[in-house]
Amino acid sequence: MDNFIFSTVADIEFGEGSSSLLGDRISSMGLRNAFIVSDPGILSLGLMDQALADLVKHKVEYQIFSKVTADPPEQIVLQAASELRASECDLVIGFGGGSSMDVAKIIAVLAKGNQKLEEMYGVDKVTGSRLPLIQIPTTAGTGSEATMVSIITTGETTKAGVVSRVLLADKVMLDPRLTEGLPPHITAATGVDAMVHAIEAYTSRRLKNPISDMLARQALELMSKNIETAVNDGSNMIARGAMLLGAMKAGQAFANAPVAAVHALAYPLGGNYHIPHGLTNSLVLPHVLRFNLRDASSMYAELASIVCDTPNMQENDRAASLAFVEYFEELPKRLGLQVSLREMNIPYEDLPRLAEEAMLQQRLLINNPRELKLENALEIYKRAF
Ligand SMILES: [Fe+2]
Repeated sequence: MDNFIFSTVADIEFGEGSSSLLGDRISSMGLRNAFIVSDPGILSLGLMDQALADLVKHKVEYQIFSKVTADPPEQIVLQAASELRASECDLVIGFGGGSSMDVAKIIAVLAKGNQKLEEMYGVDKVTGSRLPLIQIPTTAGTGSEATMVSIITTGETTKAGVVSRVLLADKVMLDPRLTEGLPPHITAATGVDAMVHAIEAYTSRRLKNPISDMLARQALELMSKNIETAVNDGSNMIARGAMLLGAMKAGQAFANAPVAAVHALAYPLGGNYHIPHGLTNSLVLPHVLRFNLRDASSMYAELASIVCDTPNMQENDRAASLAFVEYFEELPKRLGLQVSLREMNIPYEDLPRLAEEAMLQQRLLINNPRELKLENALEIYKRAF
């Protein structure tokens, strides 16, 4: 067996209504004053109400920074960090989607030491420690609660990542109730994104290991069995719980075995047309899987029996790998997601430029099971059109 390192968060608590125990959990960590990072939607939906009531009950003071936006820009991070520094808070809580959790990770470091944000971008550039950190996701998708990555928007459309084990939270609280009100199209798109995390982790050319494989398989099983129920019956707590747990497991997997060409080809669609991340992945997913089939066939066959009925198929059977790809060709349609770039009003003449931009994502493309060149990227966009 090859040597490997697997890193993840220290402590995970799962339970319907578990966010209403937040005050108890904070005081048992010996902490007294929370800085909560969130967005205006979370507050107006009342998702934080029970957690805040428990803070009051346990005499934990708090202040809320609720200005986080999608694809959070540097200025929001710096503003949150300066409010945190000026406060008496002794821990940071990310309460929301991937953006809120990503901001929480960074400011927990910024508030503790003297390192500047621009010095942190890249892999293992964080030099200091951080304040205690709890992550509470309100969507089942990004898996950010379990990753060591924070993505910040640094220009108009350019993004930069901070990657460091220091960003792994002290505690993750998974409360399926918080995802109950997510509308079907967001449940579908974020769910497909999380399934992509599991697939790309399992087929990653770098750093794939027995633990990331196990988590990716479990994540795919949980989500393939529950995504349609979660989309069609949002108050089904069993399906919501399975999606939330599955998305976190996929996050744990890809935090260690990184994602590849689906994400590389999805990013230009998000940057240029502001299409949500999950949907951009879903749009290119079936076409990247078809392209990868030549070199990933045995791994797709291993995953086929998890997501679809593959009677009388050997696991390394070509028919099984084809069934796997076909499952993901059909899934976005069954979930009611848009399935073509044309439907998204993307001009056909933009495709060459998008292919060039995708090739800039070499840090992702090097993980792809099949080498992908400029002409391949263009061909995939044409098929997705
Ligand atoms: Fe993703």
